[in-house]
Amino acid sequence: LPAHAFAETVVTWQQQHGRNDLPWQQARDPYHVLVSELMLQQTQVATVIPYFNKWLTRFPDVQTLAEAPEQEVMAHWQGLGYYRRARNLHAAAKTIVADYDAVIPQAASELKEIPGVGPYTVGAIRSFAFDAPAAIVDGNVKRLFARLFELPYAVNHSPHDRHFWKISEHYTPNTNNRRFAQGLLDLGATICKPQQPLCHACPLQQSCRAFANDSVADYPKRKQS
Ligand code: ADE
Repeated sequence: LPAHAFAETVVTWQQQHGRNDLPWQQARDPYHVLVSELMLQQTQVATVIPYFNKWLTRFPDVQTLAEAPEQEVMAHWQGLGYYRRARNLHAAAKTIVADYDAVIPQAASELKEIPGVGPYTVGAIRSFAFDAPAAIVDGNVKRLFARLFELPYAVNHSPHDRHFWKISEHYTPNTNNRRFAQGLLDLGATICKPQQPLCHACPLQQSCRAFANDSVADYPKRKQS
C-alpha cells in the first residue's frame, strides 16, 4: 500500500469512526495536548477525562501551572499514579514560561528540551496541537504495524523501537496529520485491540499480512521478560 493511500485510508476512517469528542481535542490548545498526553501515558482515556477537566479548572494555562505550589499540583494528580509525570508537567510549565515566554513551541528541537517530553509527546504535540507533520509511535501504533506487516520486532524491547519509528515516519503524511495521528491511535485502541481485534471493521484489512495469513493472534511479538 503506497504511503499516500495508507494515510488517506486512515484519515477517512478517523473522520467517520474515530474519536472526535474527547475534551483535549476541542480547543486544539497545545497546553491541553501536553496535559492530556502526559496523563494518557499510563492511564486509560475514561479515567483521564475527569482529571483533565478538573486540572484545567484549577490550572487553565501554562502560566498558572508554573506559578502553582508543588503540593497543589500533586494533589490534583492524586489517584492517577506514576507521580513523576506530575512533577515533569510542573517542571515543563516552568521551562515553557522561562525559556519560551509561556508559549509552547512547535519545533521538535525545542519541544524535546522540555521536561517529560519524549519522542512520543513531541509527535503528539506537533500533530494534535499544530497539525504539523510528525510521526507518532505508542503501544497501539506498534501493535497495528506489527500485525499489518507481520513484523518480527518485539514491542516490549526498546532497541526495536527504531524500526517502528522508521515505519511510522514513512507513512506520515504532509497534510491532515492531526487526523492521521489520531486515526492511528484510534485504530490501535478500538479496532486492532490486543485481544479480539475487530478485523471485520478494519479499513486496512485488505492490506494486513497477519489477517491474510490468519496470524493476527501471533502478533505483536514480545520478548520474554
Ligand atoms: N492516547 C494518547 N493520546 C490520545 C489521544 N489523543 N486520544 C485518545 N487516546 C490517546
